[in-house]
Amino acid sequence: MKVRAQAPSIKNSTNFNVVADSKTAVGTTLENLKAAIAGETGAYTKYMTFANAAKEQGYDQIARLFTATAAAELIHIDLEYAVVAEMEPNYQKPTAAAPLAYACDLNLISGANGEIYEASDMYPAFIKKAQEEGNLKAVNVFTRAKLAEAVHAERYLAAYNDIDAPDDDKFHLCPICGYIHKGEDFEKCPICFRPKATFTAY
Ligand code: FE2
Ligand code: FE2
Ligand code: FE2
Repeated sequence: MKVRAQAPSIKNSTNFNVVADSKTAVGTTLENLKAAIAGETGAYTKYMTFANAAKEQGYDQIARLFTATAAAELIHIDLEYAVVAEMEPNYQKPTAAAPLAYACDLNLISGANGEIYEASDMYPAFIKKAQEEGNLKAVNVFTRAKLAEAVHAERYLAAYNDIDAPDDDKFHLCPICGYIHKGEDFEKCPICFRPKATFTAY
């Protein structure tokens, strides 16, 4: 993902459309925030399971990618939780059951499919609703997550294509938005502009 002069948003970008066959049940923004937290929690649990499977199957670099992406989903949970907690102070974060893991290539595809759903369906639908409600905080957290999910999908598909050609690259996680960069060749986050020095390496 390239760094642009302005941070990407629904106002300056043309990739915020909702897919025509949307599978997202859109409620109020409060309900949508909770649904997003549930989805992110499922993704976190799934990726931790897939990280362990990748390690057991001998895919160490992919295990690091799943672990970094799981940490990114925790960032999204915290961003969304902060907005929910302002509206509903007693809200409790949900938990998710660990899924079955399969062969590493199929786990990468499963991850990519979930990320593409979130980036092209769930988050664009929730962003649109939050805009209608005038909830700017929700627009902002949904936007950061949406942009990061598309990058997560890209990382998973790249790992799928190169599953038998790993390298020594590290994955660098932006602590603010969940963006993940493979390798050292970057200066700042293309989503939130945080400098590389603040990133966590996996
Ligand atoms: Fe996420
Ligand atoms: Fe993601
Ligand atoms: Fe970022």
